[in-house]
Amino acid sequence: MSEGRPGQSSRFNRRTRPVVPPIHQSVTYFLDDAAYKDIQAGGLDEIWYGRFRNPTVDVAAEEIRRLEGSEAAFMTASGMGAIATTLLTLVRAGDRIVAARQVYGDSRDLLVRDLPAWGLDVVQVDALDLDAWRAAVAGGPTRVVYVETLANPQLDLADLPALAELAHAAGALLVVDNTFATPYSVQPLALGADIVVHSATKFLNGHSDVIAGVVAGGFDQVREVQRRVITLGTCLDPHAAYLVWRGLQTFELRLSRSNATARDLAAALAARDDVVRVRHPSLPDYERAEVAGRVLRRDGDRVRAGAMVTFTVAGGDERALRVMRRLEIGCEATSLGGVETLVSTPFNSSHFSLTPDERRAARIDDGMIRVSCGVEPSDLLVGDFLQAVDATD
Ligand SMILES: Cc1ncc(COP(=O)(O)O)c(C=O)c1O
Repeated sequence: MSEGRPGQSSRFNRRTRPVVPPIHQSVTYFLDDAAYKDIQAGGLDEIWYGRFRNPTVDVAAEEIRRLEGSEAAFMTASGMGAIATTLLTLVRAGDRIVAARQVYGDSRDLLVRDLPAWGLDVVQVDALDLDAWRAAVAGGPTRVVYVETLANPQLDLADLPALAELAHAAGALLVVDNTFATPYSVQPLALGADIVVHSATKFLNGHSDVIAGVVAGGFDQVREVQRRVITLGTCLDPHAAYLVWRGLQTFELRLSRSNATARDLAAALAARDDVVRVRHPSLPDYERAEVAGRVLRRDGDRVRAGAMVTFTVAGGDERALRVMRRLEIGCEATSLGGVETLVSTPFNSSHFSLTPDERRAARIDDGMIRVSCGVEPSDLLVGDFLQAVDATD
């Protein structure tokens, strides 16, 4: 124990092989010639300062890299951190971004409020209308085509192969937010996307106890985003990265369970007369059934339809609130992807910043309820929703 500085004592140097990755809390690392060389070359091969890289963050990123089947992945402080850092890496003032109108509220605010103030031309289109995408991309030099795989909250499924084709034909990159679908249901890079972003706060972590994001894609592109993380400071904390890693150990288990529950819930709600509409890719009347058949991963003859269900009750937003407040198992809370079922009404939470007309244009119905299925027993959860609808006739 006597040799070296305290940080080099044998207690720390003993060769051990933990089953669970340690949390590397240190922000700085002993330098050597290789590290100096890397620093001076502007490289990111060595780990020497926490805002640039951290071993625990790398371990979590590697798990997600494997799930998305990408060459590289890098974690960020939040999902919005992943989206903003990626877009600010790819675009320059004067560039055009063509984005789906059906996106998460804060992504929409970034796209239509913040980025135009910095000199970007952002055009929004209906995610389902390929002609509109084509026209928007043809309308000016387009750098990025931006879409959510399964849109928040409408569950509109993007035709990723078609979008990749039209983006590439215009010399643009396809950036996909895969938060709602998760790689359990869709691997966008295998379908032609260039970069995948996630709110790892949601299904990847799975326990509603961490805010995190991730960017996955080709090695060079992810490296460029990493360099922008350094100057924007959107790096992930190692303890948060550890929690994401831990959540990922049950990713398949959680998702297979919550996908099955979502299927049951969607079918039960669809059988009700006072439920105006249920959106879930497992349903026979799902508007994007043809795209679902091409884009979603499957187990035998069943598509992996996802753990999100969105439904619309008769009686508008006022009744939707009453239904949600009658739930005993489902939690009235924003966010999604936790082991507990999370329920929200987009009009007053994720999409409150849109006017009623903008919500309608984004296909958000009056009376819409968004459900993120957890891992509770399916029959109990379905029963909870049915009693809540019954109690509010
Ligand atoms: C689809 C989608 N993308 C991105 C985000 C932003 O994620 P975060 O809260 O981790 O910044 C959210 C948050 O709800 C989301 O639903």
